[in-house]
Amino acid sequence: MSKSIGIFDSGIGGTSIFKEIHTLLPNENFIYLADSKNAPYGNKTKEDILQLSIKNTELLINEGCKLIVIACNTATTNAISYLRANYDIPFIGIEPAIKPAALNTQTKTIGILATKGTLSSHLFHKTTNLYASGIKVIEKVGEGIVPLIENGKLDSNEMRTLLEIYLEPMLKQHIDFLVLGCTHYPYLIPMLTKMLPEHVKIIDSGLAVAKQTQAVLTSNQLLNTSNDKTSIKLYSNGNVDMLNSILDNQFDTSYLDF
Ligand code: DGL
Repeated sequence: MSKSIGIFDSGIGGTSIFKEIHTLLPNENFIYLADSKNAPYGNKTKEDILQLSIKNTELLINEGCKLIVIACNTATTNAISYLRANYDIPFIGIEPAIKPAALNTQTKTIGILATKGTLSSHLFHKTTNLYASGIKVIEKVGEGIVPLIENGKLDSNEMRTLLEIYLEPMLKQHIDFLVLGCTHYPYLIPMLTKMLPEHVKIIDSGLAVAKQTQAVLTSNQLLNTSNDKTSIKLYSNGNVDMLNSILDNQFDTSYLDF
């Protein structure tokens, strides 16, 4: 079916997920919403995160999307059950990849960096209790990281200083996995790789989300079988240049007031 896959995030971070899905499903059409005007979601109340998620969902449904990917851990953990119960369209969410880290840790200690909204959510606690009982999970709120990324300061001294602060207690307690629980954070992997000892593995959920999107489209017979040229549109209600630059100017981006 040639209708678009809709994707939203609090800003430009969800493009890390968009890129994974686009690589796996190059024949699909996409509409991406970067709600940068309202970033970060991570410090907002559950009710505010829900209302923003509803706004983004309704826009994508009005645009005729066939499936929605919530490319935001904060919005998924706080709003996906409501959205699934109230809108008749498949939703794919993203949650921190606690399970593979907990299954593979040798030191029985893993670190997770995510937003306050994700770490305090009921869904996150449920997942952690389910998969990581008996494992020490060191949680850190990545306060300040998302605003720096949204403002083009990905590779900055301020970023390095923040990461040092968040990683220090994790390394002291001998984590061997670092779970990235926010879709903005995969863009930090080059910096994190330089900062972490070699034996600490970094895990994010991007590829798993792409595979899940493929599976749900397949089982609902929603894959695009048309041979027409694909349409990929990315919208920001904030700084479009930032959206463009995180995607290396490869896609059609524009401003939209939503
Ligand atoms: N990219 C988002 C996430 O995965 C949200 C970050 C934020 O807006 O605080 O959680």
